[in-house]
Amino acid sequence: MSSHQPSSQSTASSMQVSPATNSSSTNLPVRSIPGGYGRPFFGPISDRLDYFYKQGRDEFFQSRVEKYKSTVYRANMPPGPFIASDPRVIVLLDGKSFPVLFDVTKVEKKDVFTGTYMPSTKLTGGYRVLSYLDPSEPKHEKLKRVLFYLLKARRDHVIPEFSTSFNELFNGVEKELAKNGSASYNDANDQAVFNFLGRAWFGKNPPDTKLGNNGPKLISLWLLFNIGPILSLGLPKIIEELTFHSFPLPSFLVKGSYQKLYDFFYSSAGVVYEEAERQGISKEEACHNILFATCFNTFGGFKIVFPSLLTHLGSAAGEKFHAQLAQEIRSAVSASNGKITMSAMEQMPLMQSVVYEVLRLEPPVMFQYGKAKRDLVIESHDAAFEVKKGEMLFGYQPFATKDPKIFDRPEEFVADRFVGEGAKLLKHVLWSNGPETESPTVSNKQCAGKDFVVFTTRLFVVELFLRYDTFTAEVGTSVLGSAVSITSLKRAS
Ligand code: HEM
Repeated sequence: MSSHQPSSQSTASSMQVSPATNSSSTNLPVRSIPGGYGRPFFGPISDRLDYFYKQGRDEFFQSRVEKYKSTVYRANMPPGPFIASDPRVIVLLDGKSFPVLFDVTKVEKKDVFTGTYMPSTKLTGGYRVLSYLDPSEPKHEKLKRVLFYLLKARRDHVIPEFSTSFNELFNGVEKELAKNGSASYNDANDQAVFNFLGRAWFGKNPPDTKLGNNGPKLISLWLLFNIGPILSLGLPKIIEELTFHSFPLPSFLVKGSYQKLYDFFYSSAGVVYEEAERQGISKEEACHNILFATCFNTFGGFKIVFPSLLTHLGSAAGEKFHAQLAQEIRSAVSASNGKITMSAMEQMPLMQSVVYEVLRLEPPVMFQYGKAKRDLVIESHDAAFEVKKGEMLFGYQPFATKDPKIFDRPEEFVADRFVGEGAKLLKHVLWSNGPETESPTVSNKQCAGKDFVVFTTRLFVVELFLRYDTFTAEVGTSVLGSAVSITSLKRAS
């Protein structure tokens, strides 16, 4: 990421930026955006093969940073032909340019939730659900209000139901560990997350309904139909390329699974439908939205976040660090009469920092997109770039939140990074599609569940270290996030 000396040609182009398009005057050299898209069809396919197979994701982005000597450049993003009609994007890879994606006066967030393609609305009951709506669309505000209402109405159920569901999980993990010497974590996590959400948000225990224990499997299949085009399942390249990287999977194949989930939410989410009615949203539309928020946004998020926490905690300085964390958590809980409360959790600065650090190192949703609403000037640390109205901006978040010009030792897990003065860096933690120091509103696109996610992730760490002194884990890769096996657990002494 060396600084770039502008050519005289690109300096000259800075003079053509009219005040109307350039709201923030820049002292940086204006540079034309490097990179390119190649020939139609062949360029996107070549980038796709680099991304999935020849280079892999991080190398795809890093090698081009080095080639173009810029953290802003042009490239094609998967899937490309024949799923996305236009895969051309301007890639943003530093913590300075990335936040333009949060400014809804500058970027349009309509139908860009999954990137340069949008899954068929047949997968969501024929509706464009909230995640695909731009705040300028009237439904955006109404649907976001419905979700805020749900989160508020059910907030008192979060701590007890989390405790129940995750104690069940760890009882199971302990049994498997005793039997096999190691316990795979991910499937148990998915079950615990879904049970927790059913109980906390809807007062329903999924295993007692028609869904039984099948919720997580049904969701995972449906998720695959939504985001298969941008995943690699580890199948032979030729098979992936000729099937779900090139053509959308036919939605009728997942219709039955979706209907089972829909029936569960239709009969369970009563609390939401009253608010939906007040907002003028039909029960059907509200139900498809609640299903999406629970299964895609939340289940999909925690499927990644909790294994990621175990990965980083497991590899971080081991027993001594675990003891420090356990000590902080246990003394705050015992000062609150042995109860986990919101105010007790405010007395745990190391635990809070650990959660932010994991969300910084491994933002669970790695990609953000937005279309320029007008001609813009975007600044990286080294240069300013002119973007034309209608061009697609794309940020790969792990590079922005590991920007060496913002974070010291950016690639390392630094447990107390955000303690004390370190809190100043929270504005550069971006997992929620916005700075950690800002809040979701009905007029922005920041994650509606931001506070819930941070709170629940903190609960996970608290429950873990109330129950155990230390643990070890082995980590592999999986389609979404890491595959974790627990190899030892030492019960709290
Ligand atoms: C670990 C869990 C979660 C992660 C990592 C996550 C991440 C994100 C991200 C990155 C976005 C912005 C996507 C974009 O527009 O580019 C987003 C939006 C959204 N998230 Fe979350 N989320 C999580 C949990 C939740 C929860 C618990 C809810 C439940 C209410 C939720 C509801 C939403 C909604 C409705 C949007 C769209 C917001 C809007 O249209 O204004 N998410 N989330």
